[in-house]
Amino acid sequence: MERPSHPTSTQLPALFEEAIRDFFASRSDLVTGIGGGYETAVGALESYILRGGKRVRPAFAWTGWLGAGGDPGAEGADAVVRACAALEFVQACALVHDDIIDASTTRRGSPTVHVEFEDLHRRSGWAGDSAHYGESVAILLGDVALAWADDMIRESGIDAAAAARVSPVWSAMRTEVLGGQFLDIGNEARGDETVEAATRVNRYKTAAYTIERPLHLGAALQGADTDLIAAYRTFGTDIGIAFQLRDDLLGVFGDPSITGKPSGDDLIAGKRTVLFAHSLVRADESNPAVAAELRAAIGSELSPADVDHLRTVIVELGAVDDVESQIDTLVTSATVALEASTATDDAKERLTAMALAATKRTH
Ligand code: IPE
Ligand code: MG
Ligand code: MG
Repeated sequence: MERPSHPTSTQLPALFEEAIRDFFASRSDLVTGIGGGYETAVGALESYILRGGKRVRPAFAWTGWLGAGGDPGAEGADAVVRACAALEFVQACALVHDDIIDASTTRRGSPTVHVEFEDLHRRSGWAGDSAHYGESVAILLGDVALAWADDMIRESGIDAAAAARVSPVWSAMRTEVLGGQFLDIGNEARGDETVEAATRVNRYKTAAYTIERPLHLGAALQGADTDLIAAYRTFGTDIGIAFQLRDDLLGVFGDPSITGKPSGDDLIAGKRTVLFAHSLVRADESNPAVAAELRAAIGSELSPADVDHLRTVIVELGAVDDVESQIDTLVTSATVALEASTATDDAKERLTAMALAATKRTH
């Protein structure tokens, strides 16, 4: 592909995808040599990564680098693209494993990886339990993705000084996202109802890993100073939490044909979102019968009519307004931090547009 000397935001995903394709190609001989269908399974991972996704994390990392003075026309810019694209492998691991954890059957409009391999097992008439086989394959492919995330950034071609600066950021990000996932299932298991607990999940499961650390990583690639890093981290945390709040709204109110995920899934799965926590706070204040209804409904088998009814209840309680106003507040505080920073004007403009896209999106 002809490399644009100063890629626009819309040109970036294709650059990351090319880097991901090249990385898979670099592992092809090794994987094929192992045989036994490994190539097919890794091929499924590749199409999973390439068939969808917004490339949000690499885009934030790359733009963070740009804002710290990175030059897309300079020698070494390709290495930065590869380093940023490695984040898509972390994301693949997170999602493939998350879909096992959440027992989700659909992702990006297609069967989830564990379901895909469960179906293959069943269709092939292989021995043993199909669901167990599917989950086992998905665990392994998630592990492959995480291992290759590390390989890809290490082999990206960034210089040794940049690699040393990036290393602690990369480590923190991986630990935070796993911690966030851990907190998430803990809240679900214990039925933790507080806005505080749900917000902590959002902080680590989403904000740190989706925006804050990718921006930090981009800044570290370019050797940015501590002030810019601090501004990026404030911006990233606020926009990241707002991004997850939007996700919570989409999980209940989104159009499945646009989100690629069945609507009402979060309620059926018993996900302790901030939206749900606000609903309970409101219901406890105003209507104990509705509060009891919500507590009985969360995490139970719900028909489409039940989900519809809960949607109306959540809106009427004012919880959607609560979440929308929280999103607005976070976008404002993030924008203030970004504007006051020393990021380049080009990056400020891009990051502002990306923040809006992440928090106003429909999928
Ligand atoms: C997604 O978490 C996994 C990570 C970001 C680590 P969720 O369970 O909250 O999100 P979806 O709805 O499955 O995408
Ligand atoms: Mg999930
Ligand atoms: Mg989850």
